[in-house]
Amino acid sequence: MVNPYLTMQGITKRFPGVTALQDVSFQAYPGEAMALIGANGAGKSTLMNVLGGVIRADSGEIQIDGARVEIDSPLSATANGIAFVHQEMAMLPTMTVAENLHISQFPTRGGLINTSETDRRSAEVLRRMGCQFTPDTRVQFLSTGDRQMVEIARALLTHPRIVIFDEPTSSLTSREKARLFEVIRSLKTEGVTIIYITHFLDEVFQICERATVLRGGETVGSGMLKDLTPNAIVQMMIGDIGIEVHRKRETAATAEPILGVSSLSRKGALRDVSFTLHKGEVLGLWGLLGSGRTEVARAVIGLDPIDSGQVEVRTDGAGMRPIKPGQAQRWIGMITEDRRSEGLLLSMSVKNNMSLANLRGLANRWLLVRGDEETRQAQEFVDRLNIIISSLRQPVGTLSGGNQQKVVVGRWLQVSPPIIIMDEPTRGLDVGAKAEIRNIILELAEAGKGVLVISSELEEMMALCHRYLVMNRGQIVRELPGTASRNELMAAAAGVDFMEDR
Ligand SMILES: Nc1ncnc2c1ncn2[C@@H]1O[C@H](COP(=O)(O)OP(=O)(O)OP(=O)(O)O)[C@@H](O)[C@H]1O
Ligand SMILES: [Mg+2]
Repeated sequence: MVNPYLTMQGITKRFPGVTALQDVSFQAYPGEAMALIGANGAGKSTLMNVLGGVIRADSGEIQIDGARVEIDSPLSATANGIAFVHQEMAMLPTMTVAENLHISQFPTRGGLINTSETDRRSAEVLRRMGCQFTPDTRVQFLSTGDRQMVEIARALLTHPRIVIFDEPTSSLTSREKARLFEVIRSLKTEGVTIIYITHFLDEVFQICERATVLRGGETVGSGMLKDLTPNAIVQMMIGDIGIEVHRKRETAATAEPILGVSSLSRKGALRDVSFTLHKGEVLGLWGLLGSGRTEVARAVIGLDPIDSGQVEVRTDGAGMRPIKPGQAQRWIGMITEDRRSEGLLLSMSVKNNMSLANLRGLANRWLLVRGDEETRQAQEFVDRLNIIISSLRQPVGTLSGGNQQKVVVGRWLQVSPPIIIMDEPTRGLDVGAKAEIRNIILELAEAGKGVLVISSELEEMMALCHRYLVMNRGQIVRELPGTASRNELMAAAAGVDFMEDR
């Protein structure tokens, strides 16, 4: 029997209004990956923040390699051989990759930063990760996936004995993910202890040996994965509450256009993109990461400039009418993939964030926001989306990652525009919350709205879309019906034809 390398015991952490962790025990083993699983708000990130020295527990103790340790800051965590790849990336976009990698500890020579050493170490770790970009690239020019790779590389630089990954794959391409798994495997053979947080159970079974499940801030179970099934884990995570998943209709509810996009082009990003979205339709933009799906969404809503092209919407009574980029937000709501930089004001309250897009709807005739109505509506959507908060005044930045995402969704449901664009709407959500959001998307379509969905999860697209537009290198290369099979969709995204025996 192997001894655990890490033992956390009796960990309790209270925040104002909520007990995030209640007497949690957690163990992880050398040369193995321990999955840390639980619904949104279960306490996973909080537990790892305690281990990473980001916050201090109210009580409990930590042992590493049999000896009790005090971890009271990120630096002391590093000193104890712990590296933390955070759920939300914190990077300095105008600085280079090398600078970001060494942000907390630059190699010095005679008190000065040793740049050649910084570059050499950076190049080495990037090579290990299989990254194509160079250490002198500015982070702002990297894709979300590449930034995530930098975040992971930063953790490896310190030669840790324990590495914590908090949802590392949500913005990685399948190639990057494969590379990350390679890195994790090699860390394991070096005897490193891995702690892996994810909502993707397939990844858990692929890369981990054991799992610990948290629910409502308490440990509900722990075991070897070879003795567990995905169903058993979900059962532990969410208890016995069954999730009812709606079924999509085969085709859209109507054939009445609500959004018309013609010949959108932007040099280097989009080429001649044209399509129509109908009332009652869930239209999927499908393709590989980087194929231009997000760029389409951003161009339609006017977030990015376009070189040419036109966007039309159906305005009440007046039929289809071209709109200027600046006007789009009157008709089109957009849930962005990057809630940190585009979606939320983290220091503001849940209530204020929810009402942000609906100030017009909440204003009285003197253009003042009606506070009671603001509270009522915020509460309504908090209940409907099952958002875990201690009060409507809680700053959004202190919610769990998944609950922050629900606030973004709730905001647009409140405004209820005729057209909604959702870019990775369920990223970071647990299985239950994913199902809830999918049901809501189908309900929106049934109610006559037009929904444009981007998701990297094939299952999700298949559960939702009445039709797919397949993108490749900034162009729409194909259209597929809602009945398209898994294999057809995979092949189309890869740009090859798929022949199926029918
Ligand atoms: N700084 C804080 N102030 C107040 N409450 C907090 C703070 N940090 C976390 N919480 C609360 O602690 C609880 C656990 O949050 P945590 O982030 O650990 O969840 P999680 O399991 O990581 O969920 P997710 O899967 O959504 O990321 C939540 O109710 C959250 O709102
Ligand atoms: Mg979390």
